[in-house]
Amino acid sequence: MQIRPYNPTDEADVIALWKACGLTRPWNDPHRDIARKMTEQPEMFLIGDVDGHVRASAMVGFDGHRGWVYYLAVDPAHQGHGYGRMLMAHAEALLVERGCPKINLLVREGNDAVLAFYNELGYTRDAAVSLGKRLIPDQ
Ligand SMILES: CC(C)(COP(=O)(O)OP(=O)(O)OC[C@H]1O[C@@H](n2cnc3c(N)ncnc32)[C@H](O)[C@@H]1OP(=O)(O)O)[C@@H](O)C(=O)NCCC(=O)NCCS
Repeated sequence: MQIRPYNPTDEADVIALWKACGLTRPWNDPHRDIARKMTEQPEMFLIGDVDGHVRASAMVGFDGHRGWVYYLAVDPAHQGHGYGRMLMAHAEALLVERGCPKINLLVREGNDAVLAFYNELGYTRDAAVSLGKRLIPDQ
C-alpha cells in the first residue's frame, strides 16, 4: 500500500470506502467533510492506495495542541493486512514532524473491534468525556 495525500478525483471512491466501513452518518455530509478538510491541512488527508485503488483513508490534523485522526478506514476486503497500522504510523510520524505531543481520537461507543485495534497500537482510554456542539448543520 502506498500512502499519499487525497486528491479531488478520489472523492467518490473515498465516500464509497467510508460507506463500506460504516463510517457515514446522516448528520455528517461526507462531501462537506471532505470540502472542509481541503481548507485546512489538506496534505494530512491520507489515502492508502493499492494498485491505483483507494483502499484506506485517514483524515489527520494538528490544531496546535493535539493531533486528531478521523475517518480511519480500511476496505473490508483488505482488513487484517496491516494497512490500518501503517496508516496510523504514517499519521503519527507526520504529527511528530510538526511537534504535536499527543493524538486524541474518538471511537464510537460499542465499537469493540476498533478499541482492540487501537489498544494493539498503544492507545489508551483518557479519563475524559467527549462533549460536542454542532455549529453548522449539514442537513
Ligand atoms: C479499524 C481498522 C482501520 C483496522 O484496519 P486493519 O488494516 O484491518 O488493521 P491492521 O491489520 O493494521 O491491524 C493491526 C492490529 O490491530 C489488531 N486488530 C485489527 N482489527 C482487529 C479486530 N477487529 N479485533 C481485534 N484486533 C484487531 C490486530 O491485532 C492487528 O495486530 P497484528 O498486526 O499483530 O495482526 C479497520 O478494521 C476498519 O476500517 N474498520 C471499520 C472502520 C472504523 O470503524 N474505523 C475507526 C473509526 S474510529
